Amino acid sequence: MIKETRITLKNVGKINPESIDDYIAAGGYAGLKKALKMEPFSIIDEVLEAGLRGRGGAGFSTGTKKKFTSKSCLTCPQRYVVVNADEGEPGTFKDRVIMENDPHLYIEGTIIAAFSINATKGFIYLRGEYTGSIDKTRKAIAAAYERGFLGKNILDSGFDFDLELKLGAGSYLCGEELTMLESLEGKRGHPRIKPPFPAEKGVFGAPTLVNNVETLSNVPLIIANGKDWYRQFGTERSPGTKIFTISGKVKNPGYYEVEMGVSLRELIWDLAGGMSGDKPFKAALLGGAAGTFVDASMLDERMTYDNLREKGATLGSGAVIVMEEGDSVYNILHNCLRFFKHESCGKCVPCRVGTSMLVKGTEKLRNGVPDKRALLDQMVHESEIMAATSLCPLGQSPILPLKSAARYFAEDLLI
Ligand SMILES: Cc1cc2nc3c(=O)[nH]c(=O)nc-3n(C[C@H](O)[C@H](O)[C@H](O)COP(=O)(O)O)c2cc1C
Repeated sequence: MIKETRITLKNVGKINPESIDDYIAAGGYAGLKKALKMEPFSIIDEVLEAGLRGRGGAGFSTGTKKKFTSKSCLTCPQRYVVVNADEGEPGTFKDRVIMENDPHLYIEGTIIAAFSINATKGFIYLRGEYTGSIDKTRKAIAAAYERGFLGKNILDSGFDFDLELKLGAGSYLCGEELTMLESLEGKRGHPRIKPPFPAEKGVFGAPTLVNNVETLSNVPLIIANGKDWYRQFGTERSPGTKIFTISGKVKNPGYYEVEMGVSLRELIWDLAGGMSGDKPFKAALLGGAAGTFVDASMLDERMTYDNLREKGATLGSGAVIVMEEGDSVYNILHNCLRFFKHESCGKCVPCRVGTSMLVKGTEKLRNGVPDKRALLDQMVHESEIMAATSLCPLGQSPILPLKSAARYFAEDLLI
């Protein structure tokens, strides 16, 4: 029987999120105080050796990204940190928990990240519908300025850093880092071609570190307690904890912070109270709409970035949507594909036309065509072409739920 391991959520429900004194009394800003006495490169090394990987979905090494950003364009006058607080992936609400309950944690992580790469300006790109998170973040930024954790000469260290809140307007694609940078510059939310990566040429053409809220929330803990402390949690290649958000047919849907390497069975039965009805488990969609369907054969697999990838599944943002026997995978897949069609920005043809074709394909499957198997194979093939030719990762996303649904639940799609 596993239990939660709350490190990034340790203050949730215990402190008043609007009180910086509460945060400080709980050990807050100790990581920043320590960091400001360290050499920036040793902060990066500590995060690198702690093995922290991006919690926004891709699982890229946070220390490596910091290293790239700190070393790129040494003659550039300005360097930025951008906090990805857009949280648009369906089924995901982990960043909201941090922002509403412990906003100083991710702000502290942002200031440490900025110091480590020598950035003097940062933006938080926060989803406009998240009114509670906006309110708490705004108040926390103001309090941090008042106490000298932001602004000029932070805690007499000689380091200056300004942090500004920007609100998103509800576009899923604007959570994608390069599209987010366009939006931050006041442009339409269309993707940029990669490379160059944000580390080389980010917002306003300057080297930019883009990190997710949960990722940044781990940073003060790593600096305050050290990499060895951090590595006691999780697995060798995926150290630390992860906040999973579970919804669907479970007794206790919600958010759970657990060590990396938890299994789906443990998440559902030990933490979320098991299936909500009398029916057995049928499927889970892991990682949101841009995620993968799995069946009961995956219940005991360790949920780490690498293990799930090796098994053809995804960890993504940590969203887990649970289905019971009798639920139709077709319906969820149809919803995911409609979502992609709606959110496609239309800039590139493969995604604009492809997402429409896939929605039409699923509707034809339901309404009846002579050879459904051939149609499903054709749809998978189309999604492969989209993945190979689309400008940005949105067009590369439908292949994940589609292929996994076709692999595990073809009978639901061919009815
Ligand atoms: C379509 C799309 C939407 C995304 N939405 C988010 C999001 O809402 N929040 C987030 O942190 N990352 C999102 N990402 C991932 C970001 O592009 C990027 O990988 C992440 O912000 C990097 O931070 P990390 O290294 O800390 O994970 C999205 C990616 C894609 C392709």
